[in-house]
This record gives sequence, structure tokens and C-alpha cells, in this order.
Amino acid sequence: MCVPAPTLRLPSLFFVLSTALACCVGCDVPIASFEPNVLYRKRMELSEDVKLDKAQEDIQAALDELFGTPDNPKWPEFLADDEEFADLVALDRLQRAAGPVRSDEQGVHFGLFREHCVHCHGVTGNGRGPTSQFLNPYPRDFRMGKVKFKSTTIGQKPTRSDLLRILREGVMGTSMPSFRLLDDEDIDALVDYVIFLSVRGEVERRLIAEAAFELDYEYGDRLWNPGLKESSDEEDAEELAAQWEVIQDYVVEVADSWIQAAGDVPEIAGAAEDYPLFGRDNAASPEQQARLAASVANGRRLFQGKVANCASCHGATAMGDGQANDYDEWTKEWTTAMGLDPKDREDIAPMLELGALKPRNILPRNLRIGVYRGGSRPIDLYLRIAQGIDGTPMPAAAMKPANPQGMTEEEVWDIVNYVLSLPYEHISQQGDNVPPFQRERL
Ligand code: HEC
Ligand code: HEC
Repeated sequence: MCVPAPTLRLPSLFFVLSTALACCVGCDVPIASFEPNVLYRKRMELSEDVKLDKAQEDIQAALDELFGTPDNPKWPEFLADDEEFADLVALDRLQRAAGPVRSDEQGVHFGLFREHCVHCHGVTGNGRGPTSQFLNPYPRDFRMGKVKFKSTTIGQKPTRSDLLRILREGVMGTSMPSFRLLDDEDIDALVDYVIFLSVRGEVERRLIAEAAFELDYEYGDRLWNPGLKESSDEEDAEELAAQWEVIQDYVVEVADSWIQAAGDVPEIAGAAEDYPLFGRDNAASPEQQARLAASVANGRRLFQGKVANCASCHGATAMGDGQANDYDEWTKEWTTAMGLDPKDREDIAPMLELGALKPRNILPRNLRIGVYRGGSRPIDLYLRIAQGIDGTPMPAAAMKPANPQGMTEEEVWDIVNYVLSLPYEHISQQGDNVPPFQRERL
């Protein structure tokens, strides 16, 4: 049986529906293979004007050798044997998360991904499980290798602890549930599986791009030709080895981007000990209250100003209505990036037929509601503002000293204070709940 995550907070009808759908995809039945990324292939075919159907078959064969199947996943040996990569994904954790839902005599759970995630994130982690089309935002497609809420800089992979946090906390305000009630080992295994699917998916994308840019299948080029294994000809063996080397290089490159990110987390000094933070210092000494009021006022000024430019998207009232017609990168990649109009059903029909989800606008957050997907601690908001949100239009703030016109860390903390004060401003709330330093403005 598929048991939905214990803390899934969705209307009950939706529960029943998604559980039923989950069982349709078969969380306790074997699944023989990962489905190929036909949407990305089509995108490359259109932009490069090539046919890639044969290349996709070769890529699928190479991926099976490298990463196995949904029931029996593998971690490429040349990574497992390398000290640097060995800890990124462990085979025992992978096997625990994979396969049909079951438990052994000791009560250890297996098939965790199919039990808890697949109906939203899909077997390959393409974000297109059966429940996905009912959700906004859509579940993450892991194959692009991008995660929104993390501690690393924009464009970088998340760290392991970023993923652990996402699984424990969920993504507040979206249908991504918290899995806090699972055992630590189960969560650990799921983190490995997310990294595995992400590396696998990104390698697949790079191989499709390699075939599109570098090879000419019409003239007999092959990215991977396992048929050559049968040959006793030395030249064939050399060709096969050369093909494998190209593939292996891509795998190492992608895996390395995860290692690099983990070793390169920017240090944030944090708010100084005596820096007044909204929520913490509202009822502190009158001097601290005055400092806090000044910080909020400065944050407001910066928010509306040209350097931070927050109001251009979030709107002058911060209700998320400054700009409402943009899309996230998962959508843009096969629509606007290709010159296709996401609103024109005819334009995008061939992509929808291949399983693309209907494009939905990404809205800047309404900051007066006080629900933050990446966490509501001041440091979470600081990270979102200073580092931006990957895969979305929300940019990293321009910061000194890299950008002489940019902001200082303290100015970003002022914006954090302003953002944290927004749900309590008189537009949305009146009376005694308003912090003392703001009452005078009512
Ligand atoms: C009910 C649907 C649902 C289920 C079940 C679900 N997710 Fe998600 N997940 C989502 C949605 C929706 C998002 C996108 C949130 C966003 O874009 O803000 C998401 C995002 C994520 C992210 C990326 C977060 C980020 O910061 O970019 C990860 C990692 C993730 N899910 C892992 C999992 C794992 C592992 C499981 C199973 C243990 C799981 N999810 C189960 C809906 C779901
Ligand atoms: C180009 C448009 C754009 C600009 C400029 C912009 N944002 Fe955003 N912001 C967004 C979008 C889109 C999202 C929603 C991202 C998502 O899917 O989670 C967002 C989300 C947020 C969030 C929610 C974070 C969370 O955890 O849920 C905060 C806070 C935020 N922005 C603050 C700011 C501040 C402060 C500034 C100025 C320094 C700013 N934004 C500038 C587009 C923008």
C-alpha cells in the first residue's frame, strides 16, 4: 500500500485522489526502466534542427549501465571507488530508497521514494508524477540539478544539509510536505536518492546536448555503441573505450559540481549580537526599539529603491503584484528560450504531447502573508535576498565589495527586518498586535 507522508497537509479529497493515483503508478510493483527525457530531446531537436531518436536510444543504454534501473539502481563504479565521490551517494542508502515498497524481517523500510515521493516527483524525478498537474507550484524536476532553497550561491548545487532541511521542514506554502516523522536513516536514504536522480538526469541532459552539438548521427556517429562489445576487432574496442571516456567525463563533471558546492558555502557573518532583529527585539529596551524602527525604515527605503529593486517585482505594497507574467526556468527552457509563447496552446502543443506540464506563471511572493518557503528565520530570509532563488526570476542582491554600487550585509539585514515587519503593517493588521514602534504610524 502507498501510505502518504504523515504530515501531508492537503484537503482530504485530494488525499484520496493522490493516493489512488499513486497506486496507479504502482509504488509496490517493479518498474523496469527510467523513462527517457523526451522533452529535452525535442527541445534540442528543434533548436539544433537535428534528429536525436537514435542518439536517445544510445544514451538510454549508457545510462542503464551507469545508473541501473528504478528497481536496481547503481552508482557508477568509477565514482564509488574514488575517495572524493564515494560519500556523495552510498549504494546501500540508494537501494534502501529505491525499488518497490517493502520491509525486511528487521522492519527496515525499502522503496521509500516510491512510497513517499513518486506520485508527485515521478519515477525519474521529472516532477511529473500523476498528482503534479493539480499542484501549483509544480513538484521539482530534479533532472536540471537546481534547487531553490539552499545555502550555496546562485547556480550552485545544494549541500546535503540543505536537502535534509527541505525533507524535514517541507516547503511551507506549497504541497511539498514535511517528512519529519520518518526515521533519520530513511531521510538520509531519500537524500541520496534525490542526488542520484539529479546526477543521472543532468548527465542525461548533457549527453543529449553532446549528441546535438558534437555528433552527426546521420553520418553514422554514435555516442555509445554497446554492440561493439561483441567485436574482437581492436579498432572497435578503441572506439568503444573512447566513447565511454566521453560519457565518464560528463558523469565526473556533474558529480564534481555537487562536491564543489559543498566545499564552497559562503560564510555569512550573521547579524551582530546587538543588532536589533524584528521579532526578537520588539519589546527590548527603548533604545533597541528605536534602532529596530530605524532599521525597518531603512529596509523599506532600500526595498523601494533602485539598487535592491524589490518593488519592481514584489510591488510597492509588497503584495507580489509588481510583475506577474514571468515563468520559472523549468518552464522557460522549453518555451520562451525556444521562441515558443507559453500562452499559445498551438505553439506549445507538441511539447505538451510529450508530457510537459501546462506553463504557469511564477508569482513573486506576497510578502504580507508571512509564509516563506525557504524558512522564516531571519537567516533564511537573508540567504534568499543575498543569494537569490535558483531557477526563478528572484535575483541575488547586488552586494559590496564585489559590486561597489551594491549593498552592505547590514543593509540586507535592514531589508530582512522590513520584510519580517510587513505582515504586521497596518495595511493587513490593526490594533494591539502591531509592534509598539509601529503604532505611532497608524
Ligand atoms: C504532494 C506532492 C509532493 C510530495 C509527496 C513530495 N514533494 Fe517534493 N516537492 C513538491 C513541490 C510542489 C515542490 C516544489 C516547491 C517549490 O517550487 O517551491 C517540491 C520540491 C522538492 C524539492 C526541491 C526543494 C527546493 O528547494 O527546490 C526536493 C529536494 C523534494 N521536493 C524532494 C522530495 C522528496 C525526497 C519527497 C519524498 C520523500 C517529496 N519531495 C515528496 C511536491 C511534493
Ligand atoms: C525579478 C523579480 C524579483 C525581484 C527583483 C525580487 N524578487 Fe523576491 N521573489 C521573486 C519571485 C518570482 C519569488 C518566488 C520564488 C519562488 O518560486 O519561490 C520571490 C520570492 C521572494 C521571497 C520569498 C522567499 C521564501 O522563502 O519564500 C522573499 C522574502 C523575497 N522574494 C524578497 C525579495 C526582496 C527583499 C527583494 C529585493 C532585494 C526581491 N525579493 C527582489 C521575484 C523577485
